[in-house]
Amino acid sequence: MLANKRILLIISGGIAAFKALDLIRRLKERGAIVTPVLTRGAEEFVTPLSVSALAGSKVFRDLFDLTDEAEMGHIELSRSADLIVVAPATADLMAKMAQGLAGDLATTLLLATDTPVLVAPAMNVRMWNHAATQRNLATLQSDGIAIIGPNEGDMACGEYGPGRMSEPLEIVAAIEAHFADGPLQGKHVLITSGPTHEPIDPVRYIANRSSGAQGTALATACRDMGARVTFVTGPASVAPPEGVEVVAVETAQQMLEAVQSAIPADAAIFAAAVADWRVEGASEQKMKKTKGGFPTLSFAENPDILATVSQGSDRPALVVGFAAETETVVEHATAKRLRKGCDWIVANDVSPATGIMGGSENDVTLITEEGAENWPRMGKDAVAEKLAARIAAALEA
Ligand code: C5P
Repeated sequence: MLANKRILLIISGGIAAFKALDLIRRLKERGAIVTPVLTRGAEEFVTPLSVSALAGSKVFRDLFDLTDEAEMGHIELSRSADLIVVAPATADLMAKMAQGLAGDLATTLLLATDTPVLVAPAMNVRMWNHAATQRNLATLQSDGIAIIGPNEGDMACGEYGPGRMSEPLEIVAAIEAHFADGPLQGKHVLITSGPTHEPIDPVRYIANRSSGAQGTALATACRDMGARVTFVTGPASVAPPEGVEVVAVETAQQMLEAVQSAIPADAAIFAAAVADWRVEGASEQKMKKTKGGFPTLSFAENPDILATVSQGSDRPALVVGFAAETETVVEHATAKRLRKGCDWIVANDVSPATGIMGGSENDVTLITEEGAENWPRMGKDAVAEKLAARIAAALEA
């Protein structure tokens, strides 16, 4: 898919610049033609020689390099690519892009271009959360610039939170999604999947039997139709697919936060089996057996992620929920569609006798504004493909 695609890769100065080397390797493996541009800051983290050796190309560094201007002017350089990727994008570079500054080669190329741009931010968590960065991010998004990440996790500076640059393979997936020509090309689809784990104490938790199989199949189907997929998953037993942006969470509250930071999306599919309750005041220490009897757990209600997003201000154009029922499936699911405010409900009977929960097949009824439509029993992959095709058609309409 990336064979002979021309990618102008702008590397700016952050510790994540080392990951850009792997990104170049991955892109080259897939046949892309990578032209690297280094900012001055980036040269403090990676050497032009290593970048050029991996890319098999000249590295462009200086706006006033007359040889470059003679060979290929900066306007030409910015427009000769099929896609410009900025990875990592520092807070400083994002701010300059949002302002339209053009003080060096990288910013000049970004201002002069009419080529699509994909930005992979990387910075300290506080810098990412700062109102100024969030303002700049919103400006870039409204300018039509695609953003991938950042991921949440441990940071080089010792802190924890959102700010880590997406992994090279996730960036490759976003690039592939950009060039894919399936019916979901250019669409961002958000999918929740798997169970949630609600802690009782540091070693015990409340969970459910969801394997994550249906959510994973949906992510795969949407990816294969060209969507950029954000896959927010609880601790599932099925591994997430490659080529999607995976956000791993444990609890319902973390899942809600991950979903909210992944929005805006064109469509959202809530396939996760979210725990309805969490243990209120989970113990910080492992609870001990006592002679005096059993511990009493009290519960608090978890946020309803599907309802929150369906009724929220930044609602995706199409919101799809699942309803796992054990009796009067269509009635319950029809009522649920209205109660939650989503567009569609994919209802299924998860009574143990059906073998659906944790199994490889599903027997679903799609509930929309028009009514209930029963699909024949089929593999979860086939359900996913059929649903993804319906979503693509609905987004087109
Ligand atoms: O109410 P119920 O749990 O049956 O609703 C199922 C649907 O709602 C599924 O799409 C599930 O992912 C979603 N849900 C949610 N947050 C919850 C509970 C359910 O997103 N706390």
